[in-house]
Amino acid sequence: MAAPTSRPIAPAKGTLGVLCVGLGAVATTFIAGVELARRGKGKPFGSLTQMGTIRLGKRTEHRSPLIKDFVSLARLEDLVFGAWDPLPDNAYESCLHCGVLDKHEHVEPIKDFLQGIKPMPAVFDQHYVKRLEGKNVKSGKNKKELAEALRKDIRDFKAKNKCDRLVMVWCASTEIFIVPGPAHASLAAFEKAMEANDPSIAPSMVYAYAAVMEGVPFANGAPNLSCDFPALENLAKEKHVPIGGKDFKTGQTMLKTVLSPMFKARMLGVAGWYSTNILGNRDGEVLDDPESFKTKEESKLGVLEYILQPQVYPDLYANMYHKVRINYYPPRGDNKEGWDNIDIFGWLGYPMQIKVDFLCRDSILAAPLVLDLAIFFDLAQRAGLSGIQEWLSFYFKSPQAAPGLYPEHDLFIQLTKLKNTLRWMVGEQAITHLGVEYYEYGEK
Ligand SMILES: NC(=O)c1ccc[n+]([C@@H]2O[C@H](COP(=O)([O-])OP(=O)(O)OC[C@H]3O[C@@H](n4cnc5c(N)ncnc54)[C@H](O)[C@@H]3O)[C@@H](O)[C@H]2O)c1
Repeated sequence: MAAPTSRPIAPAKGTLGVLCVGLGAVATTFIAGVELARRGKGKPFGSLTQMGTIRLGKRTEHRSPLIKDFVSLARLEDLVFGAWDPLPDNAYESCLHCGVLDKHEHVEPIKDFLQGIKPMPAVFDQHYVKRLEGKNVKSGKNKKELAEALRKDIRDFKAKNKCDRLVMVWCASTEIFIVPGPAHASLAAFEKAMEANDPSIAPSMVYAYAAVMEGVPFANGAPNLSCDFPALENLAKEKHVPIGGKDFKTGQTMLKTVLSPMFKARMLGVAGWYSTNILGNRDGEVLDDPESFKTKEESKLGVLEYILQPQVYPDLYANMYHKVRINYYPPRGDNKEGWDNIDIFGWLGYPMQIKVDFLCRDSILAAPLVLDLAIFFDLAQRAGLSGIQEWLSFYFKSPQAAPGLYPEHDLFIQLTKLKNTLRWMVGEQAITHLGVEYYEYGEK
Protein backbone atom coordinates (compact mmCIF):
# COMPACT_ATOMS: atom_id res chain seq x y z
CA MET A 1 0.00 0.00 0.00
CA ALA A 2 1.31 3.48 -0.89
CA ALA A 3 2.45 5.54 2.09
CA PRO A 4 -0.22 8.14 2.88
CA THR A 5 0.74 11.78 2.93
CA SER A 6 -0.04 14.13 5.77
CA ARG A 7 -2.14 17.27 5.50
CA PRO A 8 -0.70 20.56 6.63
CA ILE A 9 -2.12 21.24 10.11
CA ALA A 10 -1.59 24.66 11.66
CA PRO A 11 -0.30 24.19 15.22
CA ALA A 12 -2.73 24.73 18.11
CA LYS A 13 -0.96 27.83 19.39
CA GLY A 14 -2.51 30.38 21.73
CA THR A 15 -6.00 30.72 23.15
CA LEU A 16 -9.13 28.93 21.91
CA GLY A 17 -12.40 30.67 22.78
CA VAL A 18 -15.32 28.28 23.26
CA LEU A 19 -18.62 30.07 22.76
CA CYS A 20 -21.56 28.14 24.19
CA VAL A 21 -25.05 28.99 23.05
CA GLY A 22 -26.98 28.35 26.25
CA LEU A 23 -25.48 28.43 29.74
CA GLY A 24 -27.61 25.70 31.29
CA ALA A 25 -26.85 22.27 32.73
CA VAL A 26 -24.67 20.90 29.94
CA ALA A 27 -22.68 24.08 29.30
CA THR A 28 -21.94 24.83 32.96
CA THR A 29 -21.06 21.20 33.74
CA PHE A 30 -18.62 21.33 30.83
CA ILE A 31 -17.08 24.69 31.80
CA ALA A 32 -16.81 23.87 35.51
CA GLY A 33 -15.37 20.44 34.69
CA VAL A 34 -12.63 21.91 32.52
CA GLU A 35 -11.69 24.39 35.26
CA LEU A 36 -11.70 21.67 37.94
CA ALA A 37 -9.52 19.44 35.73
CA ARG A 38 -7.11 22.35 35.17
CA ARG A 39 -6.82 22.77 38.93
CA GLY A 40 -6.25 19.04 39.44
CA LYS A 41 -9.59 18.69 41.25
CA GLY A 42 -11.14 16.16 38.88
CA LYS A 43 -10.40 14.02 35.85
CA PRO A 44 -11.98 14.53 32.40
CA PHE A 45 -13.48 11.03 32.21
CA GLY A 46 -15.55 10.45 29.09
CA SER A 47 -13.35 12.63 26.89
CA LEU A 48 -11.54 10.97 24.00
CA THR A 49 -9.33 14.01 23.38
CA GLN A 50 -8.07 13.90 26.97
CA MET A 51 -7.89 10.17 27.73
CA GLY A 52 -8.07 8.28 24.42
CA THR A 53 -5.19 6.57 22.64
CA ILE A 54 -4.74 5.73 18.98
CA ARG A 55 -3.06 2.60 17.65
CA LEU A 56 -0.55 3.21 14.86
CA GLY A 57 0.88 0.61 12.49
CA LYS A 58 0.83 -3.14 13.12
CA ARG A 59 -0.20 -4.71 16.41
CA THR A 60 3.38 -5.96 16.75
CA GLU A 61 4.70 -2.38 16.77
CA HIS A 62 3.09 -1.49 20.12
CA ARG A 63 2.61 2.16 19.14
CA SER A 64 -0.45 3.61 20.86
CA PRO A 65 0.12 7.23 21.84
CA LEU A 66 -2.48 9.41 23.47
CA ILE A 67 -4.50 11.17 20.77
CA LYS A 68 -3.47 14.53 22.22
CA ASP A 69 0.21 13.60 21.85
CA PHE A 70 -0.32 12.33 18.31
CA VAL A 71 -1.97 15.39 16.78
CA SER A 72 -1.74 19.05 17.75
CA LEU A 73 -4.81 19.84 19.87
CA ALA A 74 -5.80 22.81 22.00
CA ARG A 75 -4.99 22.06 25.65
CA LEU A 76 -7.40 22.56 28.55
CA GLU A 77 -5.17 25.44 29.69
CA ASP A 78 -5.76 27.18 26.33
CA LEU A 79 -9.56 27.37 26.63
CA VAL A 80 -11.58 30.46 27.55
CA PHE A 81 -15.36 30.47 27.68
CA GLY A 82 -18.21 32.72 26.59
CA ALA A 83 -21.96 32.15 26.35
CA TRP A 84 -25.33 33.56 25.39
CA ASP A 85 -28.49 32.83 27.35
CA PRO A 86 -31.91 34.48 27.67
CA LEU A 87 -31.68 33.80 31.41
CA PRO A 88 -29.36 36.31 33.11
CA ASP A 89 -27.73 33.85 35.58
CA ASN A 90 -23.95 33.72 35.48
CA ALA A 91 -22.25 30.31 35.30
CA TYR A 92 -22.07 30.05 39.12
CA GLU A 93 -25.77 30.79 39.60
CA SER A 94 -26.68 28.48 36.73
CA CYS A 95 -24.56 25.65 38.16
CA LEU A 96 -26.36 25.96 41.49
CA HIS A 97 -29.76 26.14 39.79
CA CYS A 98 -29.11 23.10 37.60
CA GLY A 99 -27.82 21.09 40.57
CA VAL A 100 -25.66 18.71 38.57
CA LEU A 101 -22.39 19.25 40.42
CA ASP A 102 -21.91 19.03 44.15
CA LYS A 103 -22.13 22.57 45.56
CA HIS A 104 -19.39 22.14 48.15
CA GLU A 105 -16.99 19.89 46.30
CA HIS A 106 -17.22 21.24 42.76
CA VAL A 107 -18.98 24.61 42.62
CA GLU A 108 -17.92 26.75 45.61
CA PRO A 109 -14.16 26.17 45.11
CA ILE A 110 -14.38 27.76 41.65
CA LYS A 111 -17.05 30.35 42.47
CA ASP A 112 -15.00 33.38 41.31
CA PHE A 113 -14.13 31.76 38.01
CA LEU A 114 -17.76 30.78 37.33
CA GLN A 115 -19.11 34.18 38.35
CA GLY A 116 -16.87 35.72 35.69
CA ILE A 117 -18.83 33.95 32.95
CA LYS A 118 -21.90 36.07 32.34
CA PRO A 119 -24.24 35.31 29.46
CA MET A 120 -24.44 37.79 26.60
CA PRO A 121 -28.01 38.72 25.62
CA ALA A 122 -29.44 35.93 23.48
CA VAL A 123 -31.22 35.77 20.17
CA PHE A 124 -34.33 34.18 21.60
CA ASP A 125 -37.99 33.89 20.73
CA GLN A 126 -40.45 31.95 22.85
CA HIS A 127 -42.25 30.78 19.72
CA TYR A 128 -39.38 28.28 19.28
CA VAL A 129 -39.01 27.16 22.91
CA LYS A 130 -42.46 27.38 24.48
CA ARG A 131 -41.58 26.47 28.06
CA LEU A 132 -38.90 29.15 28.53
CA GLU A 133 -39.16 32.80 29.37
CA GLY A 134 -36.10 35.01 29.33
CA LYS A 135 -35.32 38.70 29.69
CA ASN A 136 -31.67 38.72 28.66
CA VAL A 137 -32.60 39.00 25.01
CA LYS A 138 -31.40 41.07 22.05
CA SER A 139 -33.76 43.28 20.12
CA GLY A 140 -33.50 44.09 16.44
CA LYS A 141 -35.82 44.97 13.63
CA ASN A 142 -35.28 41.63 11.90
CA LYS A 143 -33.32 38.37 12.15
CA LYS A 144 -30.58 39.64 9.86
CA GLU A 145 -29.96 42.51 12.26
CA LEU A 146 -29.87 40.03 15.16
CA ALA A 147 -27.30 37.97 13.25
CA GLU A 148 -25.17 41.10 12.83
CA ALA A 149 -25.41 41.73 16.60
CA LEU A 150 -24.17 38.16 17.24
CA ARG A 151 -21.31 38.69 14.80
CA LYS A 152 -20.31 41.77 16.76
CA ASP A 153 -20.42 39.77 20.02
CA ILE A 154 -18.13 37.19 18.45
CA ARG A 155 -15.60 39.78 17.31
CA ASP A 156 -15.71 41.63 20.64
CA PHE A 157 -15.25 38.39 22.61
CA LYS A 158 -12.30 37.42 20.46
CA ALA A 159 -10.60 40.80 20.90
CA LYS A 160 -11.34 41.11 24.64
CA ASN A 161 -10.08 37.62 25.44
CA LYS A 162 -7.16 37.78 23.00
CA CYS A 163 -8.28 34.55 21.34
CA ASP A 164 -6.35 33.10 18.45
CA ARG A 165 -9.29 30.97 17.36
CA LEU A 166 -12.93 30.37 18.28
CA VAL A 167 -15.48 27.55 18.12
CA MET A 168 -19.21 27.68 18.85
CA VAL A 169 -21.22 24.81 20.37
CA TRP A 170 -25.02 24.86 20.59
CA CYS A 171 -25.80 23.77 24.18
CA ALA A 172 -29.17 25.53 24.26
CA SER A 173 -32.70 24.21 24.49
CA THR A 174 -34.33 22.08 21.81
CA GLU A 175 -36.44 24.21 19.49
CA ILE A 176 -39.73 23.26 17.83
CA PHE A 177 -39.73 20.93 14.85
CA ILE A 178 -39.00 22.67 11.52
CA VAL A 179 -38.70 21.01 8.12
CA PRO A 180 -36.24 22.58 5.64
CA GLY A 181 -38.10 24.59 3.01
CA PRO A 182 -37.48 27.19 0.31
CA ALA A 183 -35.98 29.67 2.82
CA HIS A 184 -33.19 27.14 3.57
CA ALA A 185 -32.38 26.21 0.00
CA SER A 186 -29.84 28.93 -0.87
CA LEU A 187 -27.93 31.67 0.89
CA ALA A 188 -29.81 34.39 -0.99
CA ALA A 189 -33.18 32.92 0.06
CA PHE A 190 -31.97 32.45 3.65
CA GLU A 191 -30.73 36.05 4.00
CA LYS A 192 -33.93 37.38 2.44
CA ALA A 193 -35.98 35.26 4.85
CA MET A 194 -33.99 36.64 7.81
CA GLU A 195 -34.76 40.17 6.64
CA ALA A 196 -38.45 39.29 6.30
CA ASN A 197 -38.54 37.68 9.78
CA ASP A 198 -39.69 34.43 8.19
CA PRO A 199 -40.90 32.06 10.97
CA SER A 200 -39.02 29.14 9.39
CA ILE A 201 -35.74 30.81 10.51
CA ALA A 202 -35.20 29.72 14.12
CA PRO A 203 -32.73 31.40 16.50
CA SER A 204 -30.36 28.41 16.26
CA MET A 205 -30.02 29.09 12.52
CA VAL A 206 -29.20 32.74 13.22
CA TYR A 207 -26.36 31.67 15.54
CA ALA A 208 -25.06 29.14 13.02
CA TYR A 209 -25.12 31.74 10.27
CA ALA A 210 -23.31 34.31 12.45
CA ALA A 211 -20.64 31.74 13.38
CA VAL A 212 -19.96 30.68 9.81
CA MET A 213 -19.88 34.28 8.58
CA GLU A 214 -17.23 35.00 11.24
CA GLY A 215 -15.22 31.92 10.24
CA VAL A 216 -16.06 30.14 13.50
CA PRO A 217 -16.72 26.35 13.42
CA PHE A 218 -20.23 25.46 14.62
CA ALA A 219 -21.25 22.20 16.35
CA ASN A 220 -24.89 21.56 17.15
CA GLY A 221 -25.64 19.59 20.34
CA ALA A 222 -29.44 19.66 20.00
CA PRO A 223 -31.71 18.14 17.36
CA ASN A 224 -32.79 21.51 15.84
CA LEU A 225 -31.89 21.99 12.21
CA SER A 226 -29.46 24.87 13.00
CA CYS A 227 -26.96 24.30 10.17
CA ASP A 228 -28.47 21.16 8.63
CA PHE A 229 -29.71 22.58 5.33
CA PRO A 230 -28.19 23.51 1.97
CA ALA A 231 -27.83 27.29 2.50
CA LEU A 232 -25.58 26.90 5.54
CA GLU A 233 -23.79 23.79 4.29
CA ASN A 234 -22.78 25.65 1.13
CA LEU A 235 -21.87 28.80 3.04
CA ALA A 236 -19.64 26.76 5.36
CA LYS A 237 -17.78 25.30 2.39
CA GLU A 238 -17.45 28.68 0.73
CA LYS A 239 -16.05 30.25 3.93
CA HIS A 240 -13.89 27.18 4.73
CA VAL A 241 -15.60 26.61 8.08
CA PRO A 242 -16.31 23.17 9.64
CA ILE A 243 -19.89 22.55 10.76
CA GLY A 244 -21.77 19.55 12.16
CA GLY A 245 -24.47 18.09 14.34
CA LYS A 246 -27.00 17.11 15.44
CA ASP A 247 -27.83 16.23 19.04
CA PHE A 248 -25.24 14.92 21.50
CA LYS A 249 -25.32 11.12 21.59
CA THR A 250 -25.16 10.40 25.31
CA GLY A 251 -27.53 7.93 26.97
CA GLN A 252 -30.29 5.79 25.55
CA THR A 253 -29.42 6.45 21.91
CA MET A 254 -25.77 5.65 22.54
CA LEU A 255 -26.87 2.26 23.93
CA LYS A 256 -29.11 1.76 20.89
CA THR A 257 -26.22 2.34 18.51
CA VAL A 258 -24.21 -0.30 20.36
CA LEU A 259 -26.91 -2.95 20.85
CA SER A 260 -28.57 -2.82 17.44
CA PRO A 261 -25.34 -3.51 15.46
CA MET A 262 -24.94 -6.59 17.67
CA PHE A 263 -28.40 -7.89 16.69
CA LYS A 264 -27.66 -7.28 13.04
CA ALA A 265 -24.18 -8.82 13.27
CA ARG A 266 -25.73 -12.05 14.65
CA MET A 267 -28.78 -11.91 12.35
CA LEU A 268 -31.15 -11.75 15.32
CA GLY A 269 -34.56 -10.23 14.61
CA VAL A 270 -36.17 -7.33 16.48
CA ALA A 271 -39.95 -7.36 16.94
CA GLY A 272 -40.15 -4.25 19.06
CA TRP A 273 -38.13 -1.65 20.93
CA TYR A 274 -39.85 0.45 23.55
CA SER A 275 -37.80 3.25 25.11
CA THR A 276 -38.98 5.53 27.86
CA ASN A 277 -37.27 8.13 30.00
CA ILE A 278 -37.95 10.09 33.13
CA LEU A 279 -36.08 13.35 33.41
CA GLY A 280 -36.56 16.31 35.71
CA ASN A 281 -34.21 19.05 34.58
CA ARG A 282 -35.04 22.14 32.50
CA ASP A 283 -34.29 20.16 29.33
CA GLY A 284 -36.98 17.70 30.43
CA GLU A 285 -39.38 20.59 31.03
CA VAL A 286 -38.68 22.05 27.56
CA LEU A 287 -39.13 18.61 25.98
CA ASP A 288 -42.47 18.27 27.74
CA ASP A 289 -43.77 20.66 25.09
CA PRO A 290 -45.03 18.48 22.19
CA GLU A 291 -43.41 20.69 19.53
CA SER A 292 -39.93 20.46 21.07
CA PHE A 293 -40.45 16.75 21.80
CA LYS A 294 -41.23 16.14 18.13
CA THR A 295 -37.75 17.47 17.20
CA LYS A 296 -36.13 15.15 19.78
CA GLU A 297 -38.31 12.19 18.80
CA GLU A 298 -37.26 12.39 15.13
CA SER A 299 -33.63 12.44 16.23
CA LYS A 300 -34.04 9.43 18.53
CA LEU A 301 -36.15 7.34 16.16
CA GLY A 302 -33.88 7.53 13.12
CA VAL A 303 -30.98 5.40 14.39
CA LEU A 304 -32.61 1.95 14.30
CA GLU A 305 -33.88 2.29 10.72
CA TYR A 306 -30.41 3.17 9.50
CA ILE A 307 -28.54 0.53 11.47
CA LEU A 308 -30.93 -2.40 11.06
CA GLN A 309 -31.75 -1.75 7.38
CA PRO A 310 -35.26 -3.31 7.30
CA GLN A 311 -35.28 -2.97 3.50
CA VAL A 312 -32.21 -5.26 3.29
CA TYR A 313 -33.37 -7.66 6.06
CA PRO A 314 -37.19 -7.64 5.87
CA ASP A 315 -37.58 -10.97 7.73
CA LEU A 316 -35.63 -9.60 10.68
CA TYR A 317 -36.65 -5.95 10.96
CA ALA A 318 -39.46 -4.92 8.61
CA ASN A 319 -42.17 -5.35 11.27
CA MET A 320 -40.26 -3.81 14.17
CA TYR A 321 -42.33 -1.54 16.42
CA HIS A 322 -40.23 1.36 17.76
CA LYS A 323 -41.50 3.81 20.34
CA VAL A 324 -39.69 6.56 22.28
CA ARG A 325 -41.16 8.53 25.18
CA ILE A 326 -39.69 11.26 27.40
CA ASN A 327 -41.58 12.04 30.58
CA TYR A 328 -40.89 15.16 32.63
CA TYR A 329 -40.56 14.06 36.25
CA PRO A 330 -39.10 16.84 38.45
CA PRO A 331 -37.86 14.79 41.44
CA ARG A 332 -35.10 13.20 39.35
CA GLY A 333 -33.52 16.48 38.19
CA ASP A 334 -30.60 15.84 35.84
CA ASN A 335 -30.42 12.17 36.85
CA LYS A 336 -32.29 10.63 33.98
CA GLU A 337 -33.55 7.08 34.02
CA GLY A 338 -33.87 5.47 30.60
CA TRP A 339 -35.61 2.12 30.23
CA ASP A 340 -35.52 -0.03 27.14
CA ASN A 341 -37.56 -3.14 26.55
CA ILE A 342 -36.31 -4.98 23.47
CA ASP A 343 -38.25 -7.92 22.01
CA ILE A 344 -35.88 -9.94 19.86
CA PHE A 345 -36.18 -13.32 18.15
CA GLY A 346 -33.70 -16.00 17.11
CA TRP A 347 -33.49 -19.47 15.54
CA LEU A 348 -36.90 -20.50 14.15
CA GLY A 349 -38.44 -17.29 15.48
CA TYR A 350 -38.26 -18.07 19.22
CA PRO A 351 -38.76 -14.83 21.17
CA MET A 352 -36.44 -13.37 23.82
CA GLN A 353 -36.38 -10.12 25.77
CA ILE A 354 -33.69 -7.71 26.87
CA LYS A 355 -34.31 -5.03 29.51
CA VAL A 356 -31.98 -2.12 30.00
CA ASP A 357 -32.32 0.34 32.85
CA PHE A 358 -29.74 3.11 32.53
CA LEU A 359 -29.60 5.32 35.61
CA CYS A 360 -27.46 8.02 34.13
CA ARG A 361 -26.61 11.66 34.63
CA ASP A 362 -27.45 13.63 31.54
CA SER A 363 -25.00 16.48 31.78
CA ILE A 364 -22.17 14.31 33.14
CA LEU A 365 -22.43 12.30 29.92
CA ALA A 366 -22.77 15.37 27.68
CA ALA A 367 -20.00 17.61 29.13
CA PRO A 368 -17.04 15.62 27.73
CA LEU A 369 -18.72 15.62 24.33
CA VAL A 370 -18.83 19.42 24.33
CA LEU A 371 -15.12 19.45 25.14
CA ASP A 372 -14.19 16.96 22.42
CA LEU A 373 -16.34 18.70 19.84
CA ALA A 374 -14.79 22.08 20.62
CA ILE A 375 -11.29 20.63 20.38
CA PHE A 376 -11.88 18.50 17.27
CA PHE A 377 -13.77 21.21 15.38
CA ASP A 378 -10.84 23.51 16.03
CA LEU A 379 -8.51 20.79 14.75
CA ALA A 380 -10.67 20.37 11.64
CA GLN A 381 -10.34 24.04 10.88
CA ARG A 382 -6.58 24.06 11.40
CA ALA A 383 -6.34 21.03 9.08
CA GLY A 384 -8.21 22.92 6.35
CA LEU A 385 -11.38 20.80 6.51
CA SER A 386 -14.64 22.59 5.84
CA GLY A 387 -18.37 21.94 5.61
CA ILE A 388 -19.92 18.87 7.28
CA GLN A 389 -17.47 16.95 9.49
CA GLU A 390 -18.80 13.44 9.07
CA TRP A 391 -15.79 11.98 10.92
CA LEU A 392 -17.27 13.49 14.11
CA SER A 393 -20.56 11.53 13.73
CA PHE A 394 -19.35 9.61 16.81
CA TYR A 395 -20.72 12.43 18.96
CA PHE A 396 -24.16 12.85 17.41
CA LYS A 397 -27.56 11.13 17.52
CA SER A 398 -28.46 12.23 14.01
CA PRO A 399 -25.21 12.97 12.25
CA GLN A 400 -25.21 15.29 9.29
CA ALA A 401 -23.88 13.70 6.12
CA ALA A 402 -23.24 14.89 2.58
CA PRO A 403 -26.28 15.03 0.28
CA GLY A 404 -26.99 11.54 -1.08
CA LEU A 405 -25.14 9.78 1.75
CA TYR A 406 -26.93 8.01 4.56
CA PRO A 407 -25.51 8.77 8.01
CA GLU A 408 -23.39 6.20 9.84
CA HIS A 409 -24.86 5.47 13.30
CA ASP A 410 -22.96 2.41 14.59
CA LEU A 411 -20.82 3.76 17.47
CA PHE A 412 -17.81 1.58 16.68
CA ILE A 413 -17.86 2.30 12.95
CA GLN A 414 -18.03 5.96 13.93
CA LEU A 415 -15.03 5.55 16.26
CA THR A 416 -13.04 3.76 13.53
CA LYS A 417 -13.94 6.57 11.12
CA LEU A 418 -12.82 9.20 13.65
CA LYS A 419 -9.47 7.53 14.38
CA ASN A 420 -8.77 6.75 10.71
CA THR A 421 -9.43 10.39 9.89
CA LEU A 422 -6.85 11.41 12.52
CA ARG A 423 -4.36 8.88 11.03
CA TRP A 424 -5.10 10.22 7.55
CA MET A 425 -4.55 13.83 8.65
CA VAL A 426 -1.16 13.00 10.10
CA GLY A 427 -0.06 10.70 7.26
CA GLU A 428 -0.31 7.37 9.12
CA GLN A 429 -1.72 4.25 7.47
CA ALA A 430 -5.46 3.71 8.10
CA ILE A 431 -6.22 0.57 10.14
CA THR A 432 -8.53 -1.88 8.36
CA HIS A 433 -8.36 -4.70 10.96
CA LEU A 434 -7.72 -7.13 8.09
CA GLY A 435 -4.74 -8.76 9.81
CA VAL A 436 -3.72 -11.36 7.18
CA GLU A 437 -0.15 -10.12 7.38
CA TYR A 438 0.25 -11.73 10.80
CA TYR A 439 -0.53 -15.18 9.40
CA GLU A 440 1.03 -15.10 5.90
CA TYR A 441 -1.77 -17.22 4.41
CA GLY A 442 -0.44 -18.63 1.13
CA GLU A 443 2.40 -16.08 1.05
CA LYS A 444 5.92 -17.00 0.20
N1 LIG B 1 -27.57 16.24 28.49
C1 LIG B 1 -27.65 15.39 27.53
O1 LIG B 1 -27.34 14.23 27.71
C2 LIG B 1 -28.07 15.86 26.17
C3 LIG B 1 -28.00 14.95 25.13
C4 LIG B 1 -28.37 15.37 23.86
C5 LIG B 1 -28.79 16.67 23.67
N2 LIG B 1 -28.88 17.51 24.70
C6 LIG B 1 -29.38 18.86 24.41
O2 LIG B 1 -28.48 19.82 24.91
C7 LIG B 1 -29.23 21.00 25.15
C8 LIG B 1 -28.87 21.54 26.51
O3 LIG B 1 -29.32 20.68 27.53
P1 LIG B 1 -29.30 21.17 29.04
O4 LIG B 1 -29.61 20.01 29.87
O5 LIG B 1 -28.09 21.99 29.31
O6 LIG B 1 -30.58 22.15 29.04
P2 LIG B 1 -30.82 23.44 29.97
O7 LIG B 1 -32.27 23.76 29.85
O8 LIG B 1 -30.25 23.26 31.32
O9 LIG B 1 -29.95 24.57 29.26
C9 LIG B 1 -30.31 25.13 28.04
C10 LIG B 1 -30.07 26.62 28.12
O10 LIG B 1 -30.27 27.18 26.83
C11 LIG B 1 -30.85 28.44 26.99
N3 LIG B 1 -31.43 28.86 25.72
C12 LIG B 1 -32.61 28.50 25.16
N4 LIG B 1 -32.75 29.12 23.98
C13 LIG B 1 -31.64 29.88 23.78
C14 LIG B 1 -31.22 30.74 22.74
N5 LIG B 1 -31.99 30.96 21.67
N6 LIG B 1 -30.02 31.34 22.87
C15 LIG B 1 -29.24 31.12 23.95
N7 LIG B 1 -29.59 30.32 24.96
C16 LIG B 1 -30.79 29.71 24.87
C17 LIG B 1 -31.84 28.23 28.13
O11 LIG B 1 -32.22 29.43 28.74
C18 LIG B 1 -31.05 27.34 29.06
O12 LIG B 1 -30.32 28.07 30.01
C19 LIG B 1 -30.71 20.64 25.01
O13 LIG B 1 -31.17 21.01 23.73
C20 LIG B 1 -30.68 19.15 25.10
O14 LIG B 1 -31.77 18.53 24.43
C21 LIG B 1 -28.52 17.14 25.96
